[in-house]
Amino acid sequence: MDRRTFLKKSGVLALSVSWAPGCGSEATDEPMVASYNYTGPMGPADVFTHGVASGDPLDTSVVLWTRAKPDVVGDEPIFWEVALDPDFELRVSAGQEALDPERDGAFKVIADGLSAGQTYYYRFWVRGRSSVIGRTRTSGPVDHVRLAVCSCSNYATGLFVGYRGIARRRDLDAVIHLGDYIYEKQYGPANRPNQPPYEVVTLADYRTRYGHYRTDPDLLEAHRQHPFICVWDDHESANNSYKDGAQNHDPEDGEGSWQDRRQAATRAWTEWLPVREAADGRIWRRHAWGNLLDLFMLDTRLWARAKQVSGGMKEQIADPERPFLGQDQEKWLHEGLVQGSGRWKVLGQQVMIAQLKVNGTALNTDQWDGYEATRDRLFDVIEDQNIEGFVVLTGDIHTSWASDLTRDSSDPERYNPTTGQGAMGVEFVAPGITAGGFGGGSVVLGELARDLNPHIRWVDLVHRGYFVLDVRDSAVQSDWFHYATLQDDAEEKLGASWLSVYGSGHLTEADSSAAEKDQQPDLAPG
Ligand SMILES: [Fe+2]
Repeated sequence: MDRRTFLKKSGVLALSVSWAPGCGSEATDEPMVASYNYTGPMGPADVFTHGVASGDPLDTSVVLWTRAKPDVVGDEPIFWEVALDPDFELRVSAGQEALDPERDGAFKVIADGLSAGQTYYYRFWVRGRSSVIGRTRTSGPVDHVRLAVCSCSNYATGLFVGYRGIARRRDLDAVIHLGDYIYEKQYGPANRPNQPPYEVVTLADYRTRYGHYRTDPDLLEAHRQHPFICVWDDHESANNSYKDGAQNHDPEDGEGSWQDRRQAATRAWTEWLPVREAADGRIWRRHAWGNLLDLFMLDTRLWARAKQVSGGMKEQIADPERPFLGQDQEKWLHEGLVQGSGRWKVLGQQVMIAQLKVNGTALNTDQWDGYEATRDRLFDVIEDQNIEGFVVLTGDIHTSWASDLTRDSSDPERYNPTTGQGAMGVEFVAPGITAGGFGGGSVVLGELARDLNPHIRWVDLVHRGYFVLDVRDSAVQSDWFHYATLQDDAEEKLGASWLSVYGSGHLTEADSSAAEKDQQPDLAPG
């Protein structure tokens, strides 16, 4: 280790320069970029407690996140800097801001003035100490986008080997997390203990749960290497939540009011995840990569959703007044689909949109099957406005699915299950990072689901992992990467590859996984 590297690693380099030209060039009109300047006593080496993270990339800005010990930081501002290189020779942006005392040490800043489609490296400083180095990337007008898509990371179940696989990939534009980032109580086998060791209900509980998750080295590394775009599902609050309650919430059982719990849950999520924040608590938002891809992130869970009903309550399921997205989110989505310039129109959202029925009755009314009027109105927009390139990304159910989207796959006038003709789009469902998966007999179950629902082209009910969505002008492809176990020696294997050729509206099985990008910027050094 040379002296410079040693000094950097020990966090004492560049403490005394006050202002320096940006981008390492004095001959340009680049704005001045502030350098870290601290002359006080050194703080403890562990002042940054939970690594770094970035998220919600736009063309010129990205959210940067870290957490520091509030009692050590005191009123000293946190300094952040962004560079084009991992050695921070080509610094492009920097600033400083005080910790918000109301946020339990969580720190978030929006780095702006960045270039589109560019990889950056960033870090934080306080009391003479630096955080680890993070790596992030802006969105932008590029001709090839690759996104890792994941959900359902149940800490107690096993190691986050899926996050490990995501962290190692060098050519991702972002990680799309579709929710169940934490679990509020013990579900499934307790292969490693949760903190706190009980169901979380209060703000302090939820903060502790996030803090514990963010000690996991694989999750930390995934956050350190890639920007995340996150939405919550139910387990960030409580199982099968909806706007005014949850299956796993009982005020009569000492859990207090749902409104208090929901506020605590969403506040902790907002503090701990690198998301942009809206004053009214909405998380539905749009991201775009030039004219290639519009990504609509939805909140099907807490914004407006009415309580779930049983599959036999068909009148309620078809009731056009019964909310799922809510009028405002639905209007925004429909208008965005019609007006957006993205060739591919992609929804990133929580629950399965393809029908999963037995003899016309929904198997799971927590999904879009339980809110048919909202799905009908969305399908109306897709069909009536001749929208091409419609793709839905889904989490929640811990298993892998590829489906054609159609009104009724049993109607030969509408859909040909052999060719896919008649479909209006496709859905890719991510398995859990660790949650769920079925044991023996699941191959039969999967076949049965497909037989009864022929628009479902492929299903894997066994494996955990994630998928990579590869987006080009000509086609979008999903490559599922699976793990047979959740142990340290787990190996990543390609599970399946399905693509949709632009304009076809349906799925085709791919011969191989999509080619990685030519450009693979260096990972952030450890
Ligand atoms: Fe889940």
